Amino acid sequence: MDANVCMTESMSAEHGSVLPCCNLILVGPRGQVGSAFRRVLRRQRQAIATHAGVELRLIAAFDRHGMVEVAAGIDTMDIASLMGPRCRGDTDKVFERLAAMDEAPCLAIDCTASEEIADAYEAWLSMGIGIVTANKRANARDLAYYCKLQDLARARRVPYRYETTVGAAIPLLGPLRDMRMRGERVTAIRGVLSGSLSYLFNRLHDGVPFSKAVGEARALGYTEPDPMEDLRAIDLSRKLLVLAREAGFMIEASDLQVDTLCGIEGTIDGDLVDALRPEDELWARRVTDACSRGERLVVMAEVNESGARVALRNIEASSPFAAIRPGQNLILIETDIQGVIPIVVSGPGAGVDVTAAGVLSDVVTAALHRIVRFAH
Ligand SMILES: NC(=O)c1ccc[n+]([C@@H]2O[C@H](COP(=O)([O-])OP(=O)(O)OC[C@H]3O[C@@H](n4cnc5c(N)ncnc54)[C@H](OP(=O)(O)O)[C@@H]3O)[C@@H](O)[C@H]2O)c1
Repeated sequence: MDANVCMTESMSAEHGSVLPCCNLILVGPRGQVGSAFRRVLRRQRQAIATHAGVELRLIAAFDRHGMVEVAAGIDTMDIASLMGPRCRGDTDKVFERLAAMDEAPCLAIDCTASEEIADAYEAWLSMGIGIVTANKRANARDLAYYCKLQDLARARRVPYRYETTVGAAIPLLGPLRDMRMRGERVTAIRGVLSGSLSYLFNRLHDGVPFSKAVGEARALGYTEPDPMEDLRAIDLSRKLLVLAREAGFMIEASDLQVDTLCGIEGTIDGDLVDALRPEDELWARRVTDACSRGERLVVMAEVNESGARVALRNIEASSPFAAIRPGQNLILIETDIQGVIPIVVSGPGAGVDVTAAGVLSDVVTAALHRIVRFAH
């Protein structure tokens, strides 16, 4: 057997039968989330075969600088050494080949923050290729595009899953979808939705300067690839848009009122922490003022029937939002039948390992869906 080929047949043999297989193509395999996904896939593949009865086989991966394709399966941890150069049109041909395969269904996994990859979703779904994504870009575009992808996935009966785009691995979008499907109306959602910002604000209240706290959040893998997207609340606005739409508030980005957290405009050349140092004094003063009134600062995302906003708020120290830990998310959901006592969802809202675990959950669910459909 080729050294690069996974032991898929022997794994299946342990179960006494050949398991149904789902082929995976990973986009962004060398990034933070993509690398963590490869690690967790390798670690859990056997457990998934045992508990879900499906064999997940990574057969292709690419980023902007290279690609690899091995029809029999790639050893997930060998990808960096296996990736060869990528030429124009190569990846389109891979998708055409995968869509034409009639022995197993196929899923594309997007672990990038790329608009270009989000552009491809329509074509992939149209080809019958399911999508699992950690990338918010597609669902945060205009409402017409969001609805188009939903309609396309439904019409082609292919999975389109993006649970980790809001709240990382916390089950949030799925339960909201379930509520809508049973006819329950979500009336309001509010909460701390950004793990990177909850980390940042905890550190500010620990007395750490703003610029240093941003550097720490980036080093821990909590921020977006471009941390300015966190500081300008662009990433949080995308999350609120996706969350609101999943809850049934069919809003556009232009409907959001957004407080930015950083006065610096344009792109930052050079060291980010150095560039942010001029903001340290303002943030130290804000934190001191809040503490002097017994309050804490949080960035709250809210949507209800009167609008949607991302706002810097001073909250009382007795509020549950004041007790959230670095990286934690806390979200309150009210519906037409669950309003007096809201539903509370909480957990780690950022981090590459939890995100990769959430992506893997979506992959298993999508693979099972694909296999059932594929068999009929
Ligand atoms: N970190 C978290 O806690 C968290 C939580 C939830 C969701 N997410 C989401 O996960 C995604 C990935 O985040 P990350 O931190 O892993 O980013 P990252 O480390 O920058 O990795 C992104 C990868 O995508 C590749 N890529 C970029 N543009 C591409 C393109 N056009 N075609 C193919 N590959 C491309 C990059 O490789 P090349 O530059 O070589 O192309 C890179 O390896 C983001 O959308 C983020 O919002 C992250």
